[in-house]
Amino acid sequence: MDKNTVNQNFKKIYGRDAQYTFFSPGRVNVIGEHTDHNGGYVFPCALSLGTYAAVSRRDDRKVSLISENFKLRVEADLDDLSYKKSDDWANYPKGVMFELSRRGYTLGGMDIFISGDIPNGSGLSSSASIEVLTAVLCNEIFDFKIDMVELVKISQYVENNYIGVNCGIMDQFAAGMGKENCAVMLDCANLNYEYSPLELGEYELVIANTNKRRGLTDSKYNERRAECVEALRDLQTVSDIKNICDLSKAEFDMISGTIKNPEALKRARHAVYENERVKEAVKLLRQGEITEFAKLLNDSHESLENDYEVTGFELDSLAGAAQRFDGCAGARMTGGGFGGCTVNIVKKSKIPEFIEKVGDEYFKLTGLKADFYQTKIAGGARKL
Ligand code: GLA
Repeated sequence: MDKNTVNQNFKKIYGRDAQYTFFSPGRVNVIGEHTDHNGGYVFPCALSLGTYAAVSRRDDRKVSLISENFKLRVEADLDDLSYKKSDDWANYPKGVMFELSRRGYTLGGMDIFISGDIPNGSGLSSSASIEVLTAVLCNEIFDFKIDMVELVKISQYVENNYIGVNCGIMDQFAAGMGKENCAVMLDCANLNYEYSPLELGEYELVIANTNKRRGLTDSKYNERRAECVEALRDLQTVSDIKNICDLSKAEFDMISGTIKNPEALKRARHAVYENERVKEAVKLLRQGEITEFAKLLNDSHESLENDYEVTGFELDSLAGAAQRFDGCAGARMTGGGFGGCTVNIVKKSKIPEFIEKVGDEYFKLTGLKADFYQTKIAGGARKL
């Protein structure tokens, strides 16, 4: 996918030239899962896979939303941008426009053509990608002068309040603030961040897709999040913390007995231990200790499997097959869980063999064919 192709497709559909083109990436999280909504650290990077939009303004109050990836075409009215189930995918861009209008920004009519190459349902954050894409395109075209971090926050607000998924800020932040060849270590408690080059020496990052359909993901996500809130309330009866991830492992172990619900205790333990892993992982990466760094990915997976319980048979099979492969230094699920992708640190010279062997083993275990992506680590959302 590139700017020209998207613009040509715009012209075919709308019969005139596009005035603007934008891109917003998908993301992969290297380590730090389910820590964002607990005020902890995450370490994602933006991908060269993402979502493109070609746009031209129009004189009325309509926004035409057409996507190459979905059949449904929607013509939204700027004076009624309320959520409609039947608008399906178009609720994401509509939601961002709704929120901008609600905050007092004046939008005009637009013809929009969207085209994405993030594999559907892969857990590489196509929804955050399209939200941030919409925020950036409205900001540019109507000259709102909103800074990127604010656009990121608006996009997360839309996901929480308009779409109804209680996600943290990681996905939208990675889509907006990603940087070429870097992962971003983000402190989700205060949005302080630092870029870290993802220099893996003789290793490379490979993404593997379970191709397991992600059913019930959103409701399970909200359920886990509610358990974390429950754990936090219990912890706050004995400690003056704002977020679960304010605690070190030692501090947590001392007061974890205050959490009454054993399930909630496991969720909180995952968050605290995972948060410490991110700090350790970034330190090791900066010291060039790649194999030690990668081992933490295995620990992360184990914690997501046993304590946070968001992996499932397919993710465990795919990560397990990768971990058993000689030449893979570490592997874990990435993103929300219950399907989607794994992230793997694989010796460059062994990548073809990795794809073949791990793919075979995964197929034997699950009857599903995995896909593998060696995508570039790219910059954040932008006008092209
Ligand atoms: C989803 C959410 C993120 C984050 C991850 C888990 O991708 O959108 O905010 O919570 O799950 O780390």
